[in-house]
Amino acid sequence: LLLDRSGVWRYRELILPVPEQFVVSRPEGNTSLYPVGLENCGAGRTGHRQIGNYAGLERFFLKHEGENPTGSFKDRGMTTGVTMANLLGSRAVACASTGNTSASLASYAAQAGMEGIVFLPAGNVAAGKLAQSLAYGAKTVQIEGDFDAAMTLVEQVCNELGIYLLNSLNPFRVEGQKAIGFELLQQLDWQAPDWLVLPAGNLGNTSAIGKAFRQAYELSLISHLPRIASIQAAGANPFYRSFMGSFAQRESVQADTVATAIKIGNPVSYSRARRVIEESDGIVEQVTDEEILEAKSVIDRAGIGCEPASAATLAGVRKLVARGVIKRDEQVVGILTGNLLKDSKTGIPQSISGGAVKATIEAVRSILS
Ligand code: F0G
Repeated sequence: LLLDRSGVWRYRELILPVPEQFVVSRPEGNTSLYPVGLENCGAGRTGHRQIGNYAGLERFFLKHEGENPTGSFKDRGMTTGVTMANLLGSRAVACASTGNTSASLASYAAQAGMEGIVFLPAGNVAAGKLAQSLAYGAKTVQIEGDFDAAMTLVEQVCNELGIYLLNSLNPFRVEGQKAIGFELLQQLDWQAPDWLVLPAGNLGNTSAIGKAFRQAYELSLISHLPRIASIQAAGANPFYRSFMGSFAQRESVQADTVATAIKIGNPVSYSRARRVIEESDGIVEQVTDEEILEAKSVIDRAGIGCEPASAATLAGVRKLVARGVIKRDEQVVGILTGNLLKDSKTGIPQSISGGAVKATIEAVRSILS
């Protein structure tokens, strides 16, 4: 069955049981779970071991959602979201985005023959993501404002014009993203890890993975709920602030971080994510831009690579292990949310491409010696 090739539709009974002819799928999922801990990385992977060493963990896995068809985890929710739009007979779909949701929407809308409309914060979207949206033919509207302004606008536009909204406010997107949780549990033979760590912006993914774990637990597929750690950039940390105030109130900030994917000041899925943190005895941590970029270089140098926002995961793990919140011998799964190629500038040394050398053996020798 075609659907069984998708790492989302394989779990359709728990996600969205719809007739196959409506399904819009690339297919997505089936992403790698890299063993990168000091103990579980295995011989012949000393490069990957550097990550375990940096985190300070014996048993550590990174699940690379950047291996999805458009290079981020967003494809998991977009296949279900666009399938629903298809089922409803929608001709146009829209979202506000920091770049990855829009790239994914553009691709899936094009596949389904729908009009894709995306609202982006001008000047704050990595080049690779913008290129995808344009190439896939979405109507790409850059707003003179931040993501939060774009989000408010797209909600208004969708209401007024009857366009199908595909931000993570849309419950069917969240359903698809649950598959990250199911798939990693299956990769671990349904032995739940102690911790699941992921970057947090608009909080859709925290909500989705938390829901997947809760469902797996209720169905007795796993024996305990993993604790969830959501990691925010220190300059875009409203969820962290709420958490530090024992969730007494919902916070918002003027967001600023090098990790543009999570540069969000007023996350829409706050309530659902809060419930996930509370139910799983989870935690919210923040990491600085310097910590994000350092962690990114460790992931990149190990030969795995990711975009800046994804590296918040490793930076957060390192911090939580150092603080003694995550114990050295606990089993941890971290999510890498986006592909290295999405953002080919931030945190990547430009020196090599900067200066060419003469095409002589002497010139090349002098560089390599
Ligand atoms: N990592 C990446 C690479 C992202 O693109 C996003 C969100 C996140 C992490 C955070 O996930 O929002 O579910 O908490 N990107 C959205 C977008 C906002 O428009 O592409 P979240």
